[in-house]
This record gives sequence, C-alpha cells and structure tokens, in this order.
Amino acid sequence: MVNKTYSLFQNKFAYNGNILKGVYSNTLKKKIAETIIHMTALEKIGTPILPYIAAWKSDGGDIWYEYAGERLRQMLGNKAVSQLAETFRENLSKRYSYRRGFNTSDIVKNIYDKRQIDKSREFMRRMAEKYGSSEVIYKVVVSGESIWLKDLARIETYEQERVVLSFGSLIEVTNEVRLEESLTETQKELEYHKKNLELLVEEQTQDLHKAQLEVVKRLTHAAEFRDGQTGFHNKRLSKYCSIIGRAYGLLKGANWLLYNAVPMHDVGKLGIADSILLKKSSLTPKEYDIIKGHCEMGGDLLKGGNSKLLKIARAVALTHHEHWDGSGYPKGMPGKKIPLAGRIVAICDVFDALTSQRPYKEAWKFEEAVKEIQRLNNTFFDPQIVKLFIQNLSEIRKIYDQFSKSNEEFHSIPEAI
Ligand SMILES: [Fe+2]
Ligand SMILES: [Fe+2]
Repeated sequence: MVNKTYSLFQNKFAYNGNILKGVYSNTLKKKIAETIIHMTALEKIGTPILPYIAAWKSDGGDIWYEYAGERLRQMLGNKAVSQLAETFRENLSKRYSYRRGFNTSDIVKNIYDKRQIDKSREFMRRMAEKYGSSEVIYKVVVSGESIWLKDLARIETYEQERVVLSFGSLIEVTNEVRLEESLTETQKELEYHKKNLELLVEEQTQDLHKAQLEVVKRLTHAAEFRDGQTGFHNKRLSKYCSIIGRAYGLLKGANWLLYNAVPMHDVGKLGIADSILLKKSSLTPKEYDIIKGHCEMGGDLLKGGNSKLLKIARAVALTHHEHWDGSGYPKGMPGKKIPLAGRIVAICDVFDALTSQRPYKEAWKFEEAVKEIQRLNNTFFDPQIVKLFIQNLSEIRKIYDQFSKSNEEFHSIPEAI
C-alpha cells in the first residue's frame, strides 16, 4: 500500500530524495509529501522563489535534497536532484550572513570564503538547528558565471529519526549584491580619500605650527638682542615654568604652549628706547615708568594673534609683573585675576633674575634666591605656585646646576617638557 502511494506520488511529482522511500515515520513522510505538493504548485504559478527541501542527519553525514524545483536544477547546470547538493557545495565560493551586533544595533556582516565554508560546514548546520532558521546569501559560480542567491530557511529537527529538514526558498539577488559591492567599493574609496585629506591637513597644520614657532623664536631673539641678554635666561625660564606647569597638572599640550610662550614675556622691550633700556646708571622714576611700559607694548605687539600660543604669550607679556596682592603693574590685578601663566612666569622670572649675574649685581646663591621667593609669598606671588616651586626644588635645582656648569652642556639637554 505504502509502495503504491509512493509510486503514485513519484509519477506526479519530481522526487529523488531518500525519506519517502526509506524507513521513516509516516508523520515525517507526510510532511515531506505535503510540502513538495505545495512547492510544486508555487513553482507552477511562476514564483520568482526557488523552493527546496534539504535534509541531513543530526548525527553527521552529507546533506541531500528531498526536493529541488526545476529552475534551481537548471540554474545549477541541469544536474539531477541527487547530484544537486554536491554541485551546490562544489560551486559555492562565498557566504554572507548577517547578525545583529552584541553591543550595538548595527548589523554585522560575516563573510566566509570557500575554505572557511568547507571548514565550518558542520558548525553552520548546528547553528541553524539551534536557531530554527537560517538567513544567508550564497555566491555560486556556474560555468564561470557568478550567481548570488539569498537563502531563507526554516529548520526542523525530527529527534526520533535524527533527521533535520531545511525548508528553504532561494531568490536570486545578483544585481542587489553587485550594487552593494560597488557601494562598498565607493565607500572604501571615499574613506581612503578622507584619510589622505586628513593626513594632508595634519601635515599642513604641523607646518603652520612650525612656522608660528619659528616667527615667535625670531621675535624673542630680537628682543633678547636689544636687551643685551643671552638666550639662556629664556631657556631656563621656559624650563622652570614647565616644571611648575606640570606640577600644577597642566596637560602635555598646555604645558608645551606655556614652554614656548614664556620666552616672549619681555618682547615689549623692543619698543623701549636704547637710551633707557641699555642705560648703565640708575634709572630716574620717569625712565622706570617707561620701562614698565614693556608689558603693555608686548601685549600690543602680540594682540590679535589667532593661535593659542600667541594668546598665552600675550597674557604672559601683559601680566608677568603683576603681583598677587595687586601691587604689581601695569594694571595692579590681584590674585587669580592674573592668568595662571602670568603667575607662574612672575616667580620663575624673579628667581632667574636673582640667580643671574647682571652688570649692576652679583648672582645670588640658589638658597638665598629661594628664601627671597618664600619671603615674597602671598604678597608678590601666588601661594599655590610658591608651594609647587618649593615642592619641586630638586628639579629646579637640576636646571640651575646644568646651566651653571657650562652653557654648551646646557644646550645639549633635550628640551623635555
Ligand atoms: Fe618683564
Ligand atoms: Fe625676564
């Protein structure tokens, strides 16, 4: 009876599978037969879908087709259904699968090439069994021509028979994938150009920084030259200030700006007449007032600069003679109204002036100069900066010692900030 039903079925529907003629439960056979009837009807009405039923044993072995429509067979080179699974496997060259990311709502695309597919076939099958469905895109190459097929399948496991069935529908998406690939290519190209552009901008920004620094250095040299000072005062000053800046908690970039802005503190002296600036005898009160004008002249000289470096340099030029108690010049600003850079330079500038020899005075000893800084704490100087200065005396001392050994040696010290 069973055999008769089977041959009747086979006469009416194309069948080259195993289950209907094998020792399987009637439930399973009924499921296969009914699905084949539906799929055949679907194909007859001209659906663009290529339906199939694939099957495999849950305890291992090759996949086979219980059903594959005429069009799928044609697409794979007119192979018999019994050869279809093997043909599909042999001609498969890529597999895309899509899943939602673990931490984001982005769709993650996994691409497997032929070697990876061959290696992970068993794993992919287990995953499909676990999730009860599978959604992938395959690239199949038939007679040298690539076809992309989207595969949507429902997976059912029949525990008793240890059979897994995949009720699938393939749909050709060659044009869609090509479009996606060309979009990806374009996107990659855009990314590449964007990166190049970023590099170019970065390079030009660096050039601009270098050029700015160069101008600043030359301006500083000009001021030092007028003043009759060596550049060592500014070198030491930069280093002292950056020790304090770092101890204060300035980030590397900010401290770099401080380091490079500090040498411009006296740039306004460029505007003071030689007869006053280089006067050997003591200055009259009027001349002293003119000298004091170097802060505002420096401020004017550096006015309107767009860069952070010039802005800090201007703040330093304007405020390095202001005092914490408001007794300084040019504005008599008190406390934290004086910019931080100005408060740092104020201490280091006085300390370096004290420890340096000048035509009118001997250099003070290191300890004496430190005492003087402490004496002026809270009147001339910000107590917080004085505290940092004292806490970092060993570092300050290193710069002081290195310089007093020999100027050349000092030059060889890397300009660490
Ligand atoms: Fe000054
Ligand atoms: Fe100075």
